[in-house]
Amino acid sequence: MIWTVLLLVLLYVILTRRSRSKGEPPLDRGLIPWLGHALEFGKDASKFINRMKMKHGNIFTVRAAGRYVTVLLDPHSYDTVIEDSDSLDFTRYAQVLMERIFNLQLPHHQPAKAKAMMKRHFHGINLATLNSTMSRNLQALLKAEMTPNQKDWKEEGLFDLSYSLLFKTGYLTLFGGEQNNNSTDPSIVYEEYKKFDGLLTKLARGTLKSEEKRTAQSVQKRLWELLAPAGLTEDSGSNPWLHAYRRLLQGEGTDEETQKKAVLMQLWATQGNVGPASFWLLGYLLTNPEALIAVRREFSQISQMETSEAPLTDRPTSTPVFDSALEEALRLTAAPFITREVVQEKTLHMADGQQYRLRKGDRVCLFPFISPQMDPEIHHEPQKYKYNRFLNEDGSVKRDFYKGGKRLKYYTMPWGAGTNGCVGKQFAINTIRQFVYMVLTNYELELCDPNAQMPEINASRYGFGMLQPEGDLPVRYKPKH
Ligand code: HEM
Repeated sequence: MIWTVLLLVLLYVILTRRSRSKGEPPLDRGLIPWLGHALEFGKDASKFINRMKMKHGNIFTVRAAGRYVTVLLDPHSYDTVIEDSDSLDFTRYAQVLMERIFNLQLPHHQPAKAKAMMKRHFHGINLATLNSTMSRNLQALLKAEMTPNQKDWKEEGLFDLSYSLLFKTGYLTLFGGEQNNNSTDPSIVYEEYKKFDGLLTKLARGTLKSEEKRTAQSVQKRLWELLAPAGLTEDSGSNPWLHAYRRLLQGEGTDEETQKKAVLMQLWATQGNVGPASFWLLGYLLTNPEALIAVRREFSQISQMETSEAPLTDRPTSTPVFDSALEEALRLTAAPFITREVVQEKTLHMADGQQYRLRKGDRVCLFPFISPQMDPEIHHEPQKYKYNRFLNEDGSVKRDFYKGGKRLKYYTMPWGAGTNGCVGKQFAINTIRQFVYMVLTNYELELCDPNAQMPEINASRYGFGMLQPEGDLPVRYKPKH
């Protein structure tokens, strides 16, 4: 029996063995049959891709868990992937992840319609309404966290503080309506969501142990129940976007169980990145006094001119120093994969004149974290946080960055790019700016240990949007008097 199994495995390995054909990128199958490089990839994708880059250059194909993935690392060539939605499909891989992470299948879904709808609700005049609701919720949550007459310091991990406050703000703004009505308590949703978020990368890779699988299932179930009323009716207290999304799903024949799963996916898409991004920004400011002084100076000029409690959302306000400080924090900590499935054979024309053939059924993956974001040819001392990296000497926005003597279109890419880039970018920036403004203007905030360094990065999260820290950065805060 055992010999038959071994023979079958050997036969499978020989029959599915792939070799590099003429005109294709360098192929690195790894030593383990079928699995290839999957383990190293999952453990620390950035380290692995860097190792492959040293070995093969800016383009190579690796095997991971039975799939062949071509990784492209030349930002001058990114548009050949981003702009070709005929040969390179966004939705297929998104559907794979949807099923693995959210147990969700939407066979009749029209993603273009859902996206156009989201754009309508998150841009233009609707964005202004969203901003003021967000600002009101944030203020109320901050006040509940710390009453204005409190005199003692409160100690907390900065990641926990940022993630919980911004998650709850976003939840109330988009999913739950005002606090104190009948909607679900945002703290309960956050506690469950954090457990889910902790298992997310393993869910995506299909590497949960049986105990973790049980936890993931029960947390998912709990979240589906908590999210059940969100957007169901027009007066559910959620943002109109969620109600419109529900109606779109209903129109496609999606049953209520599946709708709940889809709402959980939207919770992740809209709330999973803002809290971690705010943590990194505040953490870098607190550990770089010069940067903190510069951002504080810009904010105090605004607060001196304003009487409103939420000045940044009332009217467009220019904050170039803050913008650069945020861009720099995102350069160091936003690490999404931009993945497409090859649905018809394609010749990829690189900017340096080389051409490579991509096979149908493979995947293509851009990893802007390695280049442009951490590329020493583009950003001098890329490991260092420099709050004014995206400012010219005269204080204007710096957009000129070069690689190989050629000006770059993409010099940092935290939001993705092209038609599948982030729909919520402006809302996310406004939320982070409002949070940092309120905290720095109304609170005294400092590191518990003045010499503390930023925590390490949790290496298993490369590829999933904003990175998260390993551990936390202890801070203390109290209202300003
Ligand atoms: C710091 C915060 C955020 C970051 C760094 C971020 C980043 C990204 C990235 C990189 C993508 C593209 C993924 C790809 O190409 O495969 C994306 C897509 C998306 N983002 Fe964000 N995002 C953030 C916040 C938000 C917020 C607040 C919302 C909504 C309120 C949002 C809604 C979306 C949606 C709906 C998509 C999918 C677009 C599509 O289907 O084509 N994001 N985001």
